[in-house]
Amino acid sequence: MCGIIGYIGPRNAISVILNGLRRLEYRGYDSAGIAILGDNGIRVTRAVGKLSNLESRLQQGGDRPSFATRDAPRAIGIGHTRWATHGGVTEHNAHPHLNDAGTLAVIQNGIVENFIELKSELLAEGVRFRSETDTEVIPHLVDLYMKAGMPFARAAFAAIARLQGSNAVVMMSAQEPDKLIAARLGHAGGIVIGVNPDETFVASDIPGILDYTRNVIFLEDGEWAIAQAGQVRVYRLDGAPVNKQRLTIAWDPVSVEKGEYRHFMQKEIFEQARAVTDTLRGRVNFETGEVALEHLEVGTGHAEGIPARIHTVACGTSKHAGMIGKFFIERIAQVAVEVDYGSEYRYRDPIIEPGIAVLGITQSGETADTLAAMSLGKARGARIWAIVNAIGSQAERMAEGVIHMRAGPEIGVCSTKTFLTSIVDQYLLACALAQRVRRSDADGRPDPYALAKDLALLPGLISQTLKPDPIYEALAHRFHDRRHFLFLGRGINYPIALEGALKLKEISYIHAEGYPAGEMKHGPIALIDETMPVVCVAVQDGVYEKMISQIEQVKARGGIVIAIATEGDDFIRQKADYVINVPAAPALLTPALTAIPMQRLAYEIATHLGCDVDQPRNLAKSVTVE
Ligand code: G6P
Repeated sequence: MCGIIGYIGPRNAISVILNGLRRLEYRGYDSAGIAILGDNGIRVTRAVGKLSNLESRLQQGGDRPSFATRDAPRAIGIGHTRWATHGGVTEHNAHPHLNDAGTLAVIQNGIVENFIELKSELLAEGVRFRSETDTEVIPHLVDLYMKAGMPFARAAFAAIARLQGSNAVVMMSAQEPDKLIAARLGHAGGIVIGVNPDETFVASDIPGILDYTRNVIFLEDGEWAIAQAGQVRVYRLDGAPVNKQRLTIAWDPVSVEKGEYRHFMQKEIFEQARAVTDTLRGRVNFETGEVALEHLEVGTGHAEGIPARIHTVACGTSKHAGMIGKFFIERIAQVAVEVDYGSEYRYRDPIIEPGIAVLGITQSGETADTLAAMSLGKARGARIWAIVNAIGSQAERMAEGVIHMRAGPEIGVCSTKTFLTSIVDQYLLACALAQRVRRSDADGRPDPYALAKDLALLPGLISQTLKPDPIYEALAHRFHDRRHFLFLGRGINYPIALEGALKLKEISYIHAEGYPAGEMKHGPIALIDETMPVVCVAVQDGVYEKMISQIEQVKARGGIVIAIATEGDDFIRQKADYVINVPAAPALLTPALTAIPMQRLAYEIATHLGCDVDQPRNLAKSVTVE
């Protein structure tokens, strides 16, 4: 959701904050704002729309603080990119928010659930509100406590302690210009604090500060920090100090640049072979097929050994990855898997018996619904595992066992390389589980050692699937004006149909539906006419013939078939109107290839339409509200 950044140190705070916001803009982009503490107190500049609007506003000079062009010693400031929850997208609802006297500035990510109650209390005290946001209660509350004689940090803490809901908050005060206060309550977005010898950075996510430091600490739920230049003190909500471990982030700042690509999404699609190579590195012994997961022990820590059953919880694209993982884990390890939306799991009162592992899949490690589902599992005694990309994220810290996606930073709002790497992680998990109980072809099941060795083929197959192909441009040219698309798949490639539809609607705003191919006759078939493109995943696997008969049914109703098929399949060329080839691959690995044409097709159509593929309207990369 919203992006948060704060800085205190010797650099020009405006450029540090704007740069950080640029890196975090994928988190929210309906408005942005910045507050800088200068010679004449706090100056706030806000603008609706993309960050570039805020930048031009700052450049116009009218709002520019007097010191904007010089390096103020120990400059201090905060900035925010917003994804609106309470209050419309207007300049006065953009963050930072101030107290009446303009001496306190606050940015927040999350929802203050008791803001109505707090607001009426403050209104009764004569406070004037300038926005419709829930956030604005925070500066007024801190102000109230400071007026009652509390120093800034105590007043901030007293206010934070009264907030209900999941919130990440950062604030500064003109009265104590040597510190920023940051707090994390619940799951609403992370707070990472970067510390160099003479400066400190606060951000909601690592890319925001990666240009300046790799030495970081992460705030946990219920922790708050006093950040000064070069030092940080962290406390729990009961006031007890916390000794935080400093971590070093391995990501390279270049990995958050677009380089020669037009969009981050394009870059992230084309770096998938590299991402999968990184995901595999050191985890599979390709001589023996043995799989070792460095932060997840599949069968210890619980008397019952490997889990009897896995409940996978995830949202969006990660949920589709979980649906593919179900095939891997059930087929390879014979462990039953249920897959739920994070947002639904809690509301069906799941049966969590002994021996269940709840597996959260989340690239951001911050998705509120997934975290809430994992928390429920934890509360009911399940062991908790996570597949995450964001190092140090809440999901990782909540889990007993973690498999990192190792995709590197993913900036494009719609997930691509984290989808592929999370599929690979689940394949590794399935092999590790099966190997733990030594299932092999001796018991009639697939040999988990041989299956793990198959992974050596994957980076090369992905590279082949990414080679230049004029078909994407041709399809975009022909179909960009369609209002509807249908995506069909069956078996392990059914979730790919769902993912293809999701990708297209997310970035091109064309309505698309993904369907299990066999169900087409129970509804979607009624939609098919000569204007309807139907993308069919029809690789040569166990359901190939079935897919061919679905294609016949579409053709019989005049529909247009775009088939994703195995290279060398000449038969399908007689049936389909268009064919996108993927190389032949072991059946269980085909989704890692068929996903790629879906991404490329959506990208090509969306760019043909002139859509902002990296920052599609209304979406956000990390959805930290429920
Ligand atoms: C948002 C993003 C999607 C992502 C989903 C789940 O909707 O736009 O790309 O798939 O959240 O995110 P997660 O971080 O939990 O994988």
